[in-house]
Amino acid sequence: MSGFVEKPEPVQVPGLVHLHTGKVRDLYQNEAGDLVMVATDRMSAYDWVLPTPIPDKGRVLTQLSLWWFDQLADLIPNHVLSTELPAGAPDDWAGRTLICRSLRMIPVECVARGYLTGSGLAEYNESRTVCGLALPEGLRDGSELPAPIFTPATKAEVGEHDENVSYEEVARRVGAETAAELRQATLAVYGRARNIARDRGIVLADTKFEFGHAKEDGSLILADEVLTPDSSRFWPADQWEPGRAQPSFDKQFVRDWLTSSASGWDRTSEQPPPALPEDVVAATRAKYVEAYERLTGTSWA
Ligand SMILES: Nc1ncnc2c1ncn2[C@@H]1O[C@H](COP(=O)(O)OP(=O)(O)O)[C@@H](O)[C@H]1O
Ligand SMILES: [Mg+2]
Repeated sequence: MSGFVEKPEPVQVPGLVHLHTGKVRDLYQNEAGDLVMVATDRMSAYDWVLPTPIPDKGRVLTQLSLWWFDQLADLIPNHVLSTELPAGAPDDWAGRTLICRSLRMIPVECVARGYLTGSGLAEYNESRTVCGLALPEGLRDGSELPAPIFTPATKAEVGEHDENVSYEEVARRVGAETAAELRQATLAVYGRARNIARDRGIVLADTKFEFGHAKEDGSLILADEVLTPDSSRFWPADQWEPGRAQPSFDKQFVRDWLTSSASGWDRTSEQPPPALPEDVVAATRAKYVEAYERLTGTSWA
């Protein structure tokens, strides 16, 4: 079992048509046909969208994505059109709402990894490969890879796991030309971002991008959110130590509490996870803010 502990009702705004309720974002279309993307404070862990929001999380994700889009603007165009609040939108949407170009989304989770962990490590331990790419012997949890790799995955429904696929499988699904474009863009953006993060004391272990094609001319556009704690593994550089699980920048408090006896929750049961206590919420909010402040070098408040 997994999914939403409580499926939220979409907010109704005159002039906006609700399209989709994602794990974190609510999508609408405005009268111009553009996409209105609202990042809520929802948080997911262990394939569940938790019943307790993390205050300001959606704003932090939105502002951090905007900052990254700027850092990357000379490498690749992005989908942001404006940050103007749609007329009639609730005040709470301020800072978390982006008006974006509506794209033909490419159904591939474009993951770049510079370090070995998670599903990559699991595959490596089986076969010394990740997404079919051969890697040298002797790598451990958290090891830096000889060079960053493109490890695509297929996008799963809410509550399901994404599934790693080979580059050849991506080429079969979206065509050889698009697959090559995706790999090139993913590795270029990851390379830039990793250097920026490293200068700020954060290891960008891996990250996931989503791209779309412009409906007008088919050009490749960077979409969705970028380089946030939700789409990336950030590790504090001063605590990085291969050979063990690295502390997660953002979700560690939530994961630790959910799997502790204090939560009373059994991950392997069919039961949804319980509400988070206040101190876990506060500590998690502080981590999101810290990621924003360390990366952008500006204070959140
Ligand atoms: N420019 C865009 N045009 C169309 N769809 C987009 C665009 N940018 C992002 N999306 C889609 O918006 C959704 C974002 O909501 P999110 O809560 O992250 O959903 P998910 O649960 O699928 O990760 C994703 O389905 C993503 O593919
Ligand atoms: Mg998403």
